[in-house]
Amino acid sequence: MGKRKALIAGNWKMYTTVVDGCRLALDVAKTCSELTDREVLVAPPFTILSEVAHVLKGSKIIVAAQNVCWAEKGALTGEISPVMVQAAGGSAAIVGHSERRQIFGETDELINNRVRGALAFGLLTILCIGETLGEREDGQTFNVLADQLRKGLASLTGADMANVVIAYEPVWAIGTGKTASKEQAQEAHAFIRGILVQIFEKTVAEQTRILYGGSVKPANIDELMAQIDIDGALVGGAALDAELFGRIINYK
Ligand code: 13P
Repeated sequence: MGKRKALIAGNWKMYTTVVDGCRLALDVAKTCSELTDREVLVAPPFTILSEVAHVLKGSKIIVAAQNVCWAEKGALTGEISPVMVQAAGGSAAIVGHSERRQIFGETDELINNRVRGALAFGLLTILCIGETLGEREDGQTFNVLADQLRKGLASLTGADMANVVIAYEPVWAIGTGKTASKEQAQEAHAFIRGILVQIFEKTVAEQTRILYGGSVKPANIDELMAQIDIDGALVGGAALDAELFGRIINYK
């Protein structure tokens, strides 16, 4: 098995306009210019994707969209196609974020369409999954994760998975300052990898990167990254501060 390359991703959510976004991107680029053993990704809002991609040209930072449609073009008001993302300089997309699921009602079926569309156009696709607090307290965590994975990845082949990253983001840990303990995170990641073995096969599961997301900070990144099945992080709040994100990228 080739070792999985770590990926530290920053989801900027609905923050930043062009000036502060480009500044943030440049500051992040400075903190990771020397790193070769890990990848860094930023996901700015659509409105500044192109400017951010422009200032990051020549860096190795991957620029991602925070969501993406399945179609190349069409009467789909409010949506952005994979081709548009690429034309703006992006090469990746986050899909199925819990905020899309919970606030905007995106279903597993819709999310699967997005995943398949993103892959069809060659985008690196980060599929987010995760349980709510109520689901965890009801002992449903593993059922929820298995269900979101199976539905989100429906009809993909093992070969497709070369361009897929899974992000485990427990909803109760997002923006709450409550991180899953390293044991809770590792347990969920190992479970997810086990489901990937069932859906695909062992080699695919072993090569798929699984990121942890939910209140990742400089104070907890090192212990999270030390877990065998944690291959990176999807960072929200701390990704908006170049110093904090720089420290997370440079985890030890
Ligand atoms: P926070 O790091 O702010 O908890 O957000 C996590 C997240 O949702 C990243 O996609």
